[in-house]
Amino acid sequence: MKSYSIALIPGDGIGPDVTAAAWSVLQTAANHAGFALAGTEFPWSCKFYRDTGRMMPEDGVQTLRGFDAILLGAVGWPAEVPDSVSLHGLLLPIRKAFVQYANIRRHRLLPGVTGPLRAESFDILCIRENTEGEYSGAGGRVHQGTLDEVAVETSIFTRAGVERILRFGFEQARTRRGKLASVTKSNAQKYSMVFWDEITRKLAAEYSDVAVTSYHVDALAARMIMAPESLDVVVASNLFGDILTDIGAAIQGGLGYAASANINPDRSAPSMFEPVHGSAPDIAHLGIANPIATIWSGAMMLEHLGETAAAGRVMKAVEATTARGIGTAPGKDRTEAITAAVVAALT
Ligand code: IPM
Ligand code: MN
Repeated sequence: MKSYSIALIPGDGIGPDVTAAAWSVLQTAANHAGFALAGTEFPWSCKFYRDTGRMMPEDGVQTLRGFDAILLGAVGWPAEVPDSVSLHGLLLPIRKAFVQYANIRRHRLLPGVTGPLRAESFDILCIRENTEGEYSGAGGRVHQGTLDEVAVETSIFTRAGVERILRFGFEQARTRRGKLASVTKSNAQKYSMVFWDEITRKLAAEYSDVAVTSYHVDALAARMIMAPESLDVVVASNLFGDILTDIGAAIQGGLGYAASANINPDRSAPSMFEPVHGSAPDIAHLGIANPIATIWSGAMMLEHLGETAAAGRVMKAVEATTARGIGTAPGKDRTEAITAAVVAALT
């Protein structure tokens, strides 16, 4: 029987709850489809930091490299570890080390879920650059604590980095409705964003079957709320994509429905699948976290592994569940009840 090795990093807060939920759904799907998912769990988290002084062992990235994929819950417990430490110690280095340059987040309403908008029939695929840009980590502080203090944080955009993410977006648009929105702020940022716009235009000539529009990020943010149905594929830099996909999550009913995949398209290292991020300390351990975003992320993982039919069945089971009114509002149903309903719909 075909078997895939999966690294499980439940992490902090609601992470362990939603990871366990998704894992049981994925196991059921694998059983039915006749393949195996062999999970290895890593306790890397803020608790691990408290015990060891690190979010993951020094050779953590090396350890993960051998897996077929990574399923991650959430990272962050700000009451004990500053977010800037926990995220730079676990989630962000994995995205970079494994060149998971395409962060894919799909925003559409599941059946039975009511979002805050009047518009209901939108289906947006956000593709966020995931390894450079505003998250490059280049910078520093001098004269710390004095009135002369200076903090610098430099965005880095490389031709290779911008071109590959835009190309990825064009390819996705080809498989969907053929529309691409390229997002910058080139009216204000005249180097990196003008550079991005130039590369967009260069590629547009190559992909003449895709209709491309360049938007400024402020206008695109408004459009996601006022006319989300007008958007198909959206490609944005790391920070802009981060912000836009929280809007995407909001219009699809909340973070509990927002799945994401950190993809290494070249398959030179494992890809990582996680719900759009939040450890939600306020509802941790209450058993009411919505597992749907993580289950959906798990379906994206199956798809990436080539188990397309099983991925489709998981999504059908999720849709059948929400269509019955289960898991359709925050806190309404318990994590376990939603998970059981999805598992039942699969069997
Ligand atoms: C996300 C999250 C992360 C990000 C944080 C937790 C560093 O907000 O995945 O959207 O900004 O990438
Ligand atoms: Mn985010």
